[in-house]
Amino acid sequence: MNEQMLETFLNRRSIRSFTGEPVPMEKLNQIIMAGLSSASSRAARPWELIVVRDKNKLIDMSGCRLKGSSRMLAGADAAIVVVGDEERSDVWIEDCSVVMANMHLMASALGVGSCWIQGRGREAIDGETTEDFLRCILQFPAECRLEAILALGMPDEELPARSPESLPFHKVHINKY
Ligand SMILES: Cc1cc2nc3c(=O)[nH]c(=O)nc-3n(C[C@H](O)[C@H](O)[C@H](O)COP(=O)(O)O)c2cc1C
Repeated sequence: MNEQMLETFLNRRSIRSFTGEPVPMEKLNQIIMAGLSSASSRAARPWELIVVRDKNKLIDMSGCRLKGSSRMLAGADAAIVVVGDEERSDVWIEDCSVVMANMHLMASALGVGSCWIQGRGREAIDGETTEDFLRCILQFPAECRLEAILALGMPDEELPARSPESLPFHKVHINKY
């Protein structure tokens, strides 16, 4: 890994506060391309990406989590909802997670703020599942299971990069645990 690439990883942070400026279309396309180029088991690509820029929909979507973990969607310029077809792969969760991670990192490299919002296994403000709450707004089919949502916008906060020394190297075990 070259140093520039490592710097990109160290700089990545979850951004939840956005200026309201639009994310340039070119950058949004590059973020989508990063997702679409993801590795997937048996090259099944069981994922679908739902790109939302409609302000009213983003506001409605901000209620997709019970305890406010999705409230930043109301101020986001865009969201990319990643769903996986469970009939096409038994590892759709892993495949969708790779897409999410790649897009989140690409956004950061482009100076676009983003935050991963957990969708799978979570509840919305009205008590239904986050998945059904979003299915109602976005109309994805039953076989498409919700993984996560990436909130996107131009950053209105700056969080410090990680230093190499601060990384939890104690979690690395050589040859045995
Ligand atoms: C699987 C996953 C689920 C997450 N879910 C949420 C979420 O629902 N809402 C939120 O605000 N942040 C969420 N995050 C972001 C984490 O809170 C964040 O990565 C963590 O606090 C570390 O901060 P950093 O990303 O700035 O390094 C999630 C991150 C991951 C990887």
